[in-house]
Amino acid sequence: MRQQLDIYSELAERVGEVHLRQRLVLQVEHAAQVFGQGRTLLHIENVEWLPVAIYWTLRLFGLYGLGQGNARALEVHTNEVAIEELPSALDGMRLLHLSDLHLDLDPGLTDIIIDRVRDLDVDLCVFTGDYRASTSGPYEPAVAQTSRVVEALTAPSYGVLGNHDFIEFVPPLEQAGLRFLLNETVAVEHNGASLYLSGVDDPHFYRAESLEKVAAHVPARQPAILLSHSPEIYRRAAAVGFSLMLSGHTHAGQICLPGGVPILTNARCSRRLIKGPWRHGALHGYTSPGVGCSGVPVRFFCPPAVTVHVLRSA
Ligand SMILES: [Fe+2]
Repeated sequence: MRQQLDIYSELAERVGEVHLRQRLVLQVEHAAQVFGQGRTLLHIENVEWLPVAIYWTLRLFGLYGLGQGNARALEVHTNEVAIEELPSALDGMRLLHLSDLHLDLDPGLTDIIIDRVRDLDVDLCVFTGDYRASTSGPYEPAVAQTSRVVEALTAPSYGVLGNHDFIEFVPPLEQAGLRFLLNETVAVEHNGASLYLSGVDDPHFYRAESLEKVAAHVPARQPAILLSHSPEIYRRAAAVGFSLMLSGHTHAGQICLPGGVPILTNARCSRRLIKGPWRHGALHGYTSPGVGCSGVPVRFFCPPAVTVHVLRSA
């Protein structure tokens, strides 16, 4: 009990009492609600009967095994992004982007991820949230599986919280080596130059992001990268002046029609922002299709992926 109280007082010192209170109250009262709160009216991930209906429909049509196999066929994508005023020392810097692990839904994915990423030549790893399958309930299995992935990475790792995550995940995952950015900015040193990396708390359900806080720690005219679980805040991120925004949340649709056309995106933004690279004014963006699944561990016409972003001086 005493140890738990220490965790909360440390978090309060770090994020501020108002932020912590907002997080904890919403976690307890609203994490499993279907309608209202957050950025979308319907929280599809909390509709309990839907995964059951999808599961039995797929079993009935003999498609469950195919969908499960698709969900484990993890791809490695590469995305080159040209950033204006990027210091030449950072040209060629490689960032491994993982999102939406949800590993307690399919712990069999953990070894597949480790196998894919272990030998990748990267300078930094970033996680854009959603470590647990459900939006509430026990989180120890998700933390244990995620910790195994983090411990297999050799480059420094930074991450943000998603709408499936409780703030209580932070201490154990930081212990494993994943440094969280809770509306915080860090300067990552590379080849003698600084890369400014900001991360906001979940903007989708908790609406706990503070762009003002993170931007205050980016020096003027320095390019900076923003980690945000959902791309839904892209207009404000562009207005603040971020160069690159890395997100996840959408799973690129997860269960799509042929051609990768999503049926549901669970995000209040244009469909052009829900997967892969995109642009809004001067802001470059990239929305990861995600590693794991939500609801049912299946994918159709929508492979899971991790992405290596290669930074280039524009
Ligand atoms: Fe997710």
